[in-house]
Amino acid sequence: MDIEGRRGAKKRRKRRLVAVVCCVVLVLLVVVVVLAVVLSNRSGPFKETFIEKCERVTAESKRPADCVKVWSAFERAYVGRDPCQVPVEAYDHLISTAPPHPACNRMMFWSGTKDVVHQASKGCYQTMEDSMLGAVLDGHTWCGKEGSNGKRLLLSFWGRASTEFAAVACGNTTVMLNGSRTTPFSPTSIFASIEVKKFTSDRMSSLTVVMVTNDNVLANCTDKSLKDLRKELAPGIKYICKEVTESDLFTCKNKPDKTCGPCW
Ligand SMILES: *[C@@H]1O[C@H](CO)[C@@H](O)[C@H](O)[C@H]1NC(C)=O
Ligand SMILES: *[C@@H]1O[C@H](CO)[C@@H](O)[C@H](O)[C@H]1NC(C)=O
Ligand SMILES: *[C@@H]1O[C@H](CO)[C@@H](O)[C@H](O)[C@H]1NC(C)=O
Repeated sequence: MDIEGRRGAKKRRKRRLVAVVCCVVLVLLVVVVVLAVVLSNRSGPFKETFIEKCERVTAESKRPADCVKVWSAFERAYVGRDPCQVPVEAYDHLISTAPPHPACNRMMFWSGTKDVVHQASKGCYQTMEDSMLGAVLDGHTWCGKEGSNGKRLLLSFWGRASTEFAAVACGNTTVMLNGSRTTPFSPTSIFASIEVKKFTSDRMSSLTVVMVTNDNVLANCTDKSLKDLRKELAPGIKYICKEVTESDLFTCKNKPDKTCGPCW
């Protein structure tokens, strides 16, 4: 090989080396950026949203709460734990920092009717999601994203919070069930497995079941799952059942002069 040829080979090797180094640097950069995004999203924006929402709800409800303290209590539930393995009791401190305030005769439970219950209750009834913690954490997943672990953590929080919400239920209460399902009182629901068991007749006078249906009516007040509900209900709590279609419910709710009387 002559001198020119050797120089050419050297140049090509140099170019290849530069290309490889560039590639490695580029990959490293991408990794660093991705890591930074992932890490900064871990608690930062969640903490901000949490405190922001908490302050908004607190202002609306006119009940003073130290939202930074509530956040710390929430964080304490899973600090030092795998966030996907938080036991129900871990939320005790959080719940006692921000307990639900019962609105006697206006408390609304629901199962399988999430799509309508909040519109139907707006301004008149209090659902779990209207309590401060419920409002702040509704729609949040704080362990993974959609996976089963995230679900488990959510269940342990909602289980604990629902227990408390049901335990303070008082006066005449309402539950909205889905009459477009074959088992409106589903044994695996939070309502059946947790809330109903917490109702006591010294606080609660009656429970009105509102069976909401769309075009597809699969169950009404004669449904056999409601027999199980009546069996679970503490003696002394009056049981009432009403049926209403989604469209009648909204027609009634959207009347301009509508007061808070029931729409069923
Ligand atoms: C009731 O359940 C049906 C079937 O799962 C669903 O399509 C419908 O949206 C539910 N109704 C409400 C009010 O959430
Ligand atoms: C519950 O409703 C009944 C009528 O259905 C009423 O007589 C009673 O006073 C109500 N209870 C409370 C605590 O308001
Ligand atoms: C309620 O459902 C049962 C059985 O599905 C049916 O026989 C009955 O006619 C229904 N009642 C009303 C008032 O729709």
